[in-house]
Amino acid sequence: MAGSSFGDIFRITTWGESHGKGLGVVVDGCPAGITLNEDIIQEYMNRRRPGAIRFATKRNEADKITIMSGVFEGRTTGTPISMLVFNEDQHSKDYSQIASCYRPGHADYTFDCKYGFRDYRGGGRSSGRETIGRVAGGAVALAFLKELGIEITAYTRQIGPVAIDNPLSTDLLKLRQAIMNSEIYMPDEAKTKDAVDYLSRMTENMDSAGGMVECVVNGVPAGLGDPVFDKLDAQLAKAIMSIGAVKGVEFGEGFRVAAMSGSENNDSFRINDGKITKETNHSGGVLGGMSDGSDIVFRAAFKPTPSIAKTQHTVNKDGENIDINIKGRHDPVIVPRAVVVVEAMTGLVIADLLLKNMTANIDNVKKVYDK
Ligand SMILES: Cc1cc2nc3c(=O)[nH]c(=O)nc-3n(C[C@H](O)[C@H](O)[C@H](O)COP(=O)(O)O)c2cc1C
Repeated sequence: MAGSSFGDIFRITTWGESHGKGLGVVVDGCPAGITLNEDIIQEYMNRRRPGAIRFATKRNEADKITIMSGVFEGRTTGTPISMLVFNEDQHSKDYSQIASCYRPGHADYTFDCKYGFRDYRGGGRSSGRETIGRVAGGAVALAFLKELGIEITAYTRQIGPVAIDNPLSTDLLKLRQAIMNSEIYMPDEAKTKDAVDYLSRMTENMDSAGGMVECVVNGVPAGLGDPVFDKLDAQLAKAIMSIGAVKGVEFGEGFRVAAMSGSENNDSFRINDGKITKETNHSGGVLGGMSDGSDIVFRAAFKPTPSIAKTQHTVNKDGENIDINIKGRHDPVIVPRAVVVVEAMTGLVIADLLLKNMTANIDNVKKVYDK
């Protein structure tokens, strides 16, 4: 299967299926000398782990990360960092029902069309558990970015019809506290309650909910990304769209630009304390495919969890129309567990682009090689 590697210089390769022995990642191209240990990675794994939130699959996995290589005495060595998690709570019999039919909204049908054979247990490689490798690899990228003062913060912006207008605090520490105080990572207490009520209703109805994650990147210098095929927004969009269940990505004003005038949408420039700044950030921090030095802001729309207990129409491999009620353990909403996956994928893109940017002009190269 192609397409399991991501990034050029800071590069990850993920592996593993939902009901195989385990899942993991190899991170190559990570600079030596970064403080790293299993506890740092585990913090991110815990935010993705089933069981950490009420509205998540009841599959009970500790998702304990083991670093196999590339770290010595608490620092990266510059060699490949291999990490793995063993699967523990597999109930493969839960999935015997779907071995011979196609679940609506899932990759079962397309897998069979493409490969002619599939690991039907829990979606195999198309399972939400595939994101374990992304989160572990992304945690390494985020540790690297932290050393450069770059911080990535994602949160739940919307669940079903319940959306926050703007996070109540733009102070990063307060925002993070509000995110972590919410059981669905939505930094607004009242809206969290409304969203939780909505999710309870969807669960009672044997249905599921969609939603939106918003992500803010602070501290990125101007000039990351390339102006043609490798635009920063294009690369981030690819990274985020590669997460299961993401159906749309928008930057800054996003789809609202279609209804705006030029004078509303342009961000005017001003000199402040000798520095060039923008009066607004409708662009979401990207101009012409390159970071403009302001916060990078984007949103990702997630579809409702495809596995639902409600009766649905489908077909089986014998070519018969059948009804299906999906058993097994599923997230009634994907968004809260995907928040950390969005942070991880964003970290991987920014880390890779920072390393690539070092060759963009002679001054950068001289900083490294001038005696
Ligand atoms: C973190 C995460 C957890 C997920 N959990 C589930 C789940 O419990 N049940 C389910 O049906 N889909 C779940 N999904 C979504 C499916 O993996 C995805 O919708 C499916 O593979 C089809 O791919 P597509 O939606 O990108 O077309 C999850 C996705 C992510 C990112």
